[in-house]
Amino acid sequence: MKKEIENRSDIEQLVNTFYEKVKRDEVIGDFFTRVTVIDWDKHLPVMYDFWENIIFHVGGYTGNPMKHHEALHRKEPLRAVHFNRWTALFNETVDELFQGQKAEQAKQRALSIATVMRINIIGLPNQEESIY
Ligand code: HEM
Ligand code: HEM
Repeated sequence: MKKEIENRSDIEQLVNTFYEKVKRDEVIGDFFTRVTVIDWDKHLPVMYDFWENIIFHVGGYTGNPMKHHEALHRKEPLRAVHFNRWTALFNETVDELFQGQKAEQAKQRALSIATVMRINIIGLPNQEESIY
């Protein structure tokens, strides 16, 4: 039975399920397993804090995601196809587990952030071919 995203424990479930998909994914899994070596015991709580902030506006996360993804992009280019896949997996995970206003808002915000991040890193869609 699907429920609304209500608390930290729901966010933990969302993030854990999302990263299980991400790690196994053919399109973006490599970024999390080969391009970087992630200490998941440290990374997952950072992601809980990030999403708790995005969804419930409570503190915790103080990092700079843009900086991390720019560094990642320098190691292995991030392309539109990767951002699209990330967004598809995120939406799929939310829809599998949750429903309601917070669930819709989480998907909307993830898409907005992914879009801004993508434009900062690789430019507008019609520039991508010519620049990279
Ligand atoms: C790569 C870095 C980031 C980018 C590109 C970004 C971009 C965005 C965008 C485009 C929105 C609008 C979302 C929407 O209305 O659908 C948004 C909302 C939001 N962001 Fe960020 N963001 C970033 C990092 C962060 C960080 C680090 C935090 C907090 C620690 C944060 C907290 C929020 C919150 C709370 C909202 C919702 C604001 C509201 O109530 O309307 N963001 N962000
Ligand atoms: C092409 C899509 C993406 C890929 C391949 C990707 C990959 C990664 C990887 C490998 C890390 C770990 C990097 C490190 O620790 O140095 C990371 C961290 C992170 N990612 Fe992404 N990411 C993507 C999109 C996004 C989007 C759209 C968001 C937000 C909505 C996001 C939020 C974060 C945050 C908050 C961190 C933690 C940064 C920190 O440690 O403070 N990512 N990502």
